Amino acid sequence: MNHFNYKNGLLHCEDIPLSAIAEAVGTPFYVYSKATLSRHFKAVDEAFSDIKHITCFAVKSCSNIAILNLFSSLGGGADIVSGGELFRALRAGIEPQKIVYSGVGKTVEELRYALNSQILMFNVESIQELQTLQETAAALKRTAPVALRVNPDVDPKTHAYISTGLAKNKFGIPVKEAAEIYLKAREMSNIEIVGVSCHIGSQLTTVAPFVESLTKIIDFIKGLTAAGINIRYLDMGGGLGIKYDDETPPAPGEYAAAVKEMLREVADCTLIIEPGRVIAGNAGALITKVLYTKEGNRKFIIVDAGMNDLARPSLYDAYHEILPVIESQEREEADIVGPICESGDFLARGRLAPLTERHDLLAVMSAGAYGFSMASNYNSRPRAAEVMVHQSEFYVIRKRETLADLIHGEAIPEK
Ligand SMILES: Cc1ncc(COP(=O)(O)O)c(C=O)c1O
Repeated sequence: MNHFNYKNGLLHCEDIPLSAIAEAVGTPFYVYSKATLSRHFKAVDEAFSDIKHITCFAVKSCSNIAILNLFSSLGGGADIVSGGELFRALRAGIEPQKIVYSGVGKTVEELRYALNSQILMFNVESIQELQTLQETAAALKRTAPVALRVNPDVDPKTHAYISTGLAKNKFGIPVKEAAEIYLKAREMSNIEIVGVSCHIGSQLTTVAPFVESLTKIIDFIKGLTAAGINIRYLDMGGGLGIKYDDETPPAPGEYAAAVKEMLREVADCTLIIEPGRVIAGNAGALITKVLYTKEGNRKFIIVDAGMNDLARPSLYDAYHEILPVIESQEREEADIVGPICESGDFLARGRLAPLTERHDLLAVMSAGAYGFSMASNYNSRPRAAEVMVHQSEFYVIRKRETLADLIHGEAIPEK
């Protein structure tokens, strides 16, 4: 359930017609349902309520501080992958002791920032990163709490660009090499080993790959315990998929049921999960207006949102359902395209699309995750506004960028 429904012939987010928001803030804009965000957060978090755990929302999926603040108020933490995301998480009020930091390319400045912020755990992805973290922590006279991100070589059976747990992917440390690196880490004066982490990919639609990777991770933890290395946190990453089209992903409860039994074997560990898409994906939509239509070799519906606003169709050939804001069953075959000067700029291709005219509003559904957070200014287009709806009220949680914002920080050299 996502709180986007037709009422009296108009598509609503909670109790507000999307046309009313469009009138107030213009288009394009992202709209999120607060009730859906909360509901999805709780569905995931409560699925693990009977075991020690922290739900660290993946900031990369949807990074507006109003949304992070909502999850913080529900007891959530954050999974971050950059200093920028750390800044956002802290500004949103997330407790540093609920922040875990993943990513293959953390800079020294970012490590320093995270050390000084006293986050819960660094998910270290290479021996060089570990050594750099040791040096940086020593210089600051701090101790870095560390988990190694282990690559279990499991096929998540998802899009190649969002598969991360195969041996050929850049992420993590192969299980075979990780044990030796843990032994090295144990000797480092400013490193404290606290966990093992893993994230095999995104938009997984079956539990089998999670189970396969967890089996390997639990075996690995048992080996560490036998070697006298105590592991307090098991970070399973994120990755649970959602329904965009005809997928049938497991519900959070099914996912939890499949792994909880296994987790008894490491009952001393606190579980960390890093969900992103499953919480935010179906809680948001991108609302766009039809600028023009034209018939050529095929029908084109040209809208005011492009690949700079929502990259997923162009980047992954991803499917997003597109609904008319004024309810109608009439459809025609068309490509729904943006204004960007790239043939790859489309929101839908060869689709039975709503029959539209100029100025009609369309809702690009399931755009709450990896939507605004991947937006850019390409073609010098100001980024869209973001709006959060709570029952019959709405709040602009990020203003539409202005033309002045586009050149912020730019300078013409004096001769
Ligand atoms: C390390 C890490 N954790 C969590 C996530 C969140 O994944 P998802 O949005 O599929 O839950 C990602 C995204 O790819 C990730 O790289």
